[in-house]
Amino acid sequence: MTGQTEHALRGDYSRMRPDYTVDQDWDAYTSAQHDLWRRLYARQAALVPDYACEEFRATLATLDYGAGIPRFDAINAMLHPATRWQLVAVPGLVPDLVFFEHLANRRFPVTVWLRDPEEFDYIVEPDIFHDFFGHVPMLFNPVFADYMQAYGRGGIKAHALGAIEMLARLYWYTVEFGLIETRAGLRTYGAGILSSGGEIRHCIESPRPNRIGFDLLRVMRTRYKIDTYQETYFVIRDFDELFAATEPDFAPYYRELHALEPWTAATVLEGDRVYHRGSGAARPPAREASNPRAST
Ligand code: PHE
Ligand code: CO
Repeated sequence: MTGQTEHALRGDYSRMRPDYTVDQDWDAYTSAQHDLWRRLYARQAALVPDYACEEFRATLATLDYGAGIPRFDAINAMLHPATRWQLVAVPGLVPDLVFFEHLANRRFPVTVWLRDPEEFDYIVEPDIFHDFFGHVPMLFNPVFADYMQAYGRGGIKAHALGAIEMLARLYWYTVEFGLIETRAGLRTYGAGILSSGGEIRHCIESPRPNRIGFDLLRVMRTRYKIDTYQETYFVIRDFDELFAATEPDFAPYYRELHALEPWTAATVLEGDRVYHRGSGAARPPAREASNPRAST
């Protein structure tokens, strides 16, 4: 989602429908692109057993989309019966309200273009690999699927209340960069991490970042960095916790937060439930950036 970018957006916006959807045009992908997809997939799939949450792993194993760029139709044939979600093809990032409308109707916008080979490790805007590998498996989880729809509805409301910035922080620290506590230790469910070759290890193993228990207002008050690995990750105990915490009407929360200065991405507060206090050492640049507009 969200915010305005200074640069022109990548992607062909000339043939879209009013809701920004396009045809995937699967036949137009080249064999070199399918090959690049297979290499991206193989790298990430090898990391998933150690770093991804159980819900993600279980679905990825059944989807089997390592053979080449998937057809959205084929995935929809499985996804819709599972959680009544569908994928829709879009040229790239879409305006906030368009994005929220899709989510509120259980449609997930997936970018049609694939990065260039030189962007194997680093990409500025979300591409089909990020959208697909990172987000789609989680849409098969019933609780997470409901959370995403609720988020879309919440986005429409936040837009009217001038509170998109706060809501975007919630998306960032959960859907894109969230961690979850498991018996095996911390794991990730965040798409920005799951599609990244470097951050997937870093978020779990590095001593540098903070890892702090999820607290809704705390998260909505915390800025984030878009061009480095995250300085702080927030940890949920399970998806029911996330769903329950976000159930109440946010309007009073937004009023409260509007009057307060946001925390920096590196801040650790007195009341934080600290899993790990970051060493604060210099952070390497992100190997895979996720843009703040990451509809994705
Ligand atoms: N309950 C939130 C509201 O009233 C909507 C929301 C749900 C936002 C889930 C984010 C995630 O605005
Ligand atoms: Co994303």
